[in-house]
Amino acid sequence: MVVYFYALVLVFFVIILGSGELDAKNSKLARHKALSYDAYVATKTCRTVPGLSKAQLELCYRLPNATVFALQGLNQAVKECQHQFQGHRWNCSSLQTRGRNPYINSMLQRGYREAAFAHAITSAGITISISRACSSGQLNNCGCDSKTYKMKETLSSANSLSKTDWKWGGCSHNLHYGMKFSKMFLDSREWSEDIQSKINLHNNKVGRMAVSNNMQLKCTCHGVSGSCELKTCWRASPDFRVIGNTLKEKFQTAIMVDQTNLGKKKLRKFNMVKQRKRKNKNKPKQWTPRKNKHKRDLSHDLLYYEKSPSFCESDPFLDVPGTTGRSCNRSSTGPDDSCANLCCGRGYNLVKMRRVESCRCKFVWCCRVDCETCSYEEWISVCK
Ligand SMILES: *[C@@H]1O[C@H](CO)[C@@H](O)[C@H](O)[C@H]1NC(C)=O
Ligand SMILES: *[C@@H]1O[C@H](CO)[C@@H](O)[C@H](O)[C@H]1NC(C)=O
Ligand SMILES: *[C@@H]1O[C@H](CO)[C@@H](O)[C@H](O)[C@H]1NC(C)=O
Repeated sequence: MVVYFYALVLVFFVIILGSGELDAKNSKLARHKALSYDAYVATKTCRTVPGLSKAQLELCYRLPNATVFALQGLNQAVKECQHQFQGHRWNCSSLQTRGRNPYINSMLQRGYREAAFAHAITSAGITISISRACSSGQLNNCGCDSKTYKMKETLSSANSLSKTDWKWGGCSHNLHYGMKFSKMFLDSREWSEDIQSKINLHNNKVGRMAVSNNMQLKCTCHGVSGSCELKTCWRASPDFRVIGNTLKEKFQTAIMVDQTNLGKKKLRKFNMVKQRKRKNKNKPKQWTPRKNKHKRDLSHDLLYYEKSPSFCESDPFLDVPGTTGRSCNRSSTGPDDSCANLCCGRGYNLVKMRRVESCRCKFVWCCRVDCETCSYEEWISVCK
């Protein structure tokens, strides 16, 4: 009995002595606390966003802050997509999800032209969002783009400036890291070797390239009292609208790729055609139609491989709402928002709507604007 008692006391002491290890544990705990903000962000964003792939989740836990900006970029991309497709039968509204991840939409798993656009614009959106976040100091692992660029660079707004009155300065948006993160985040979804993955990877790249080809020059003036003796300029990523417009043009001229005729090698060939080759455009060249087909540089074109449905009827499986109830433009004869097109020949109803606007605004000294509210009655045409 006594022996047992001593044994117990001994065990007790051993436990107490063992607590020296606790110091080590404490410092671990402290480190844990320092990480707890990241862990919190990680848990909040990574766990609540639906439809992230395994690779995306890993990236999210590793770089939660950047992922938050990537998700913002996705959001802005979807908004821009909605703007660009306003009057279309498919108007991109199905990509706007409360979970902030448009990739849960099954449209994006298809080979349609619309999906090609969506891949490109989301990829561009992440690129823009991350490159801006880097330069505004909101991310730990990237900052300003430190490269000094060649003066002769053909940047859109630089054209009006002569080379002598400005120099590089300020914080350029970190295009390099933006593109890298966009690639890590979206391309990691496309691990499969099938045509869908290849086309998606291609269109993701077209989106990133659209950003890098539209980088802008932003400048600030220096000199006595606002005189602009010297300008310092930095590279800024383009507005979403610029990218939206660019990609919408690419959407109109997107190229359908023949699935059966598209082995592994051939797509790579399409992508690898160097622009260099296009430079001797003026040289008379001999070609057979077949050769020419493969020489065409498709690296900046949106590619798709599946004919789009009409988007007229609702298709819950594709998250397509159909066009019933959409308001159309009676005076338009255009290919998209006209009633004939949007209503798919079903016709439309006229519905009386009351529109309320502020009107007869007066400036009251100083400084207020007083308006009245006016309401107008309008006849809206709504697709049957
Ligand atoms: C897009 O279409 C949906 C349903 O088809 C509609 O509810 C929504 O208002 C449309 N959005 C715009 C911006 O026209
Ligand atoms: C994430 O952002 C928070 C708040 O801005 C910051 O304290 C933390 O260090 C950042 N972590 C990383 C890994 O960038
Ligand atoms: C309807 O179409 C006409 C002609 O294309 C255009 O001028 C007008 O702005 C459109 N209206 C709306 C509300 O989009």
